[in-house]
Amino acid sequence: MKTIDGYNKLRGGYYTPSDIADFLVRWAMRDPLESILEPSCGDGSFLSAIQKREKSLWKTQTNTVTGIELDAEEAKKSAAYGYEIVVGDFFTYYRNEIEERCFYDVVLGNPPFIRYQNIDEKYRAIAFDLMKKHGFHPNRLTNIWLPFLLLSCEALSENGRIGMVIPAELFQVDYAAEARNYLSSHFDQLTLITFKKLVFDDIQQEVVLLLGEKQSDQKGIRVVELNNLEELNHCDLSIIRHTEQKKLDHSSDKWVKYYLTREELNLLQRLNNDPRISNAMDLYEVNVGLVSGENDFFLADWTTVVERNLQTEFQPIISRSEQVRGIILSDSELDDLRRDGKRVSIFMPDNLPIEDLSVSAQDYIRWGEQKGFNKNYKCRIRKRWYIIPTTWTADAFLIRQANLYPKMILNSAGALVTDTLHKVRFLDGVDGRLVTAAFINAYTLALSETLGRSYGGGVLTFEPGEMRKIRIPMIGAEKLDIMRIDQLQRDGEYEKILFYTDQVLLYEGLGLSEHEVNLLHSIWKKMRDRRLSRKQVV
Ligand SMILES: C[S@@+](CC[C@H](N)C(=O)[O-])C[C@H]1O[C@@H](n2cnc3c(N)ncnc32)[C@H](O)[C@@H]1O
Repeated sequence: MKTIDGYNKLRGGYYTPSDIADFLVRWAMRDPLESILEPSCGDGSFLSAIQKREKSLWKTQTNTVTGIELDAEEAKKSAAYGYEIVVGDFFTYYRNEIEERCFYDVVLGNPPFIRYQNIDEKYRAIAFDLMKKHGFHPNRLTNIWLPFLLLSCEALSENGRIGMVIPAELFQVDYAAEARNYLSSHFDQLTLITFKKLVFDDIQQEVVLLLGEKQSDQKGIRVVELNNLEELNHCDLSIIRHTEQKKLDHSSDKWVKYYLTREELNLLQRLNNDPRISNAMDLYEVNVGLVSGENDFFLADWTTVVERNLQTEFQPIISRSEQVRGIILSDSELDDLRRDGKRVSIFMPDNLPIEDLSVSAQDYIRWGEQKGFNKNYKCRIRKRWYIIPTTWTADAFLIRQANLYPKMILNSAGALVTDTLHKVRFLDGVDGRLVTAAFINAYTLALSETLGRSYGGGVLTFEPGEMRKIRIPMIGAEKLDIMRIDQLQRDGEYEKILFYTDQVLLYEGLGLSEHEVNLLHSIWKKMRDRRLSRKQVV
């Protein structure tokens, strides 16, 4: 493995371990006369594997292999394997040589990972034009691996196969939604191999191996979960063939759901279409909390507020999800938080010129200016830097980053909330106490694991858009005792909460069987444990 310096990082120069290259080559190469493309071949990890494979199968180099590499020095190393090496940009080569021809039987590789703003503009322009030509909508979040993947697929012959190392974010990021849809419709068979341990030692990047066959008698998608490279080395291709297939549903949904068994997936899909379960958007609106622009100025503990005589200018706020342990935020809990010295007060003076505010508020603002807080970007763009724009006050909050599971918190204290949580406003006629009480149930938790995103750290993150897709079974919710659930939540007894809500909402409300409820539990736990296990990966 090479050392990673700034230059290598900028060109996305992380090379593929030979175990992975050997495996993908073993899977993809089937015939001595096929044409093979490696669109960003680096120093030739895949070319070396191809050469070894050809020699072992056919004793000599028989395939037509083309490698492309932008970096001339690295390209020179690749040339040592005796294949055709093009020194230059893949997208330019694609536009000039590949487009309209689409003839490669096999594409193998590990495209660079470079964020939009770091992609060389001249290559990005070509890449994005080509993407648009094929009906995609690249944007400022598009990472270069995406056009590499999509155009590599486009370069395949009718019966082609692709074996690529792809960032695991393919599974869940919004900017890859079109790609998921495209892959589902352009390949008969997709296999995703994932690893429990990171396989690139020197980058904290989780990768998956994407194996796609444009034509296959086996149709569908399957996810093979391996522990590490060791397991890949011993992975017989028949293991892959015998892994359960799921139907490709041609949607841009996140792919995390394919970790589930067919039976689990069917149940979830059935419940997702069950009109008796309420959609979030029929219950509440959700939006981001306040962005202060400078927490060191705007947030304060109660002692500071009193010392500075600013009791009327500060309002209660929740600024961290750990501050509320239950599912109800009451006035008395807020008092406790204040007493404990937590920063649960936010500076919210009247929206007036500084000279019209109280003397203590004026002093406080001047202190902030001496510290330079008014120069922060978020503050500087405001008409009055010390006035945080606000909209509606939340009836409830939703956790933005969940560890075990997301929860809704009823805002009985009328507190404000920062953007570490989301704010919720119930629609007219909706009883927010019932929604909050019903939120923690096995179905909603299972569904939430397929909606949220989880990166390296193990937490499950929800943006408002994902919280709008939540569904909550509300039939029978009026029987739930919210105080009891609040207490169980404070005691960390989530199994008891689920036992209670399952009974009322799932068995009695929806008439689910014990087997179905157990399946929901297993979906939730499987997906939760999978992401939490990522935490230990170093
Ligand atoms: C992640 S490395 C992988 C290299 C090799 N495929 C492997 O698996 O070891 C990505 C490579 O893409 C090259 N690269 C970056 N931008 C490129 C472009 N526009 N066209 C062709 N190659 C590019 C980088 O120089 C780097 O060698």
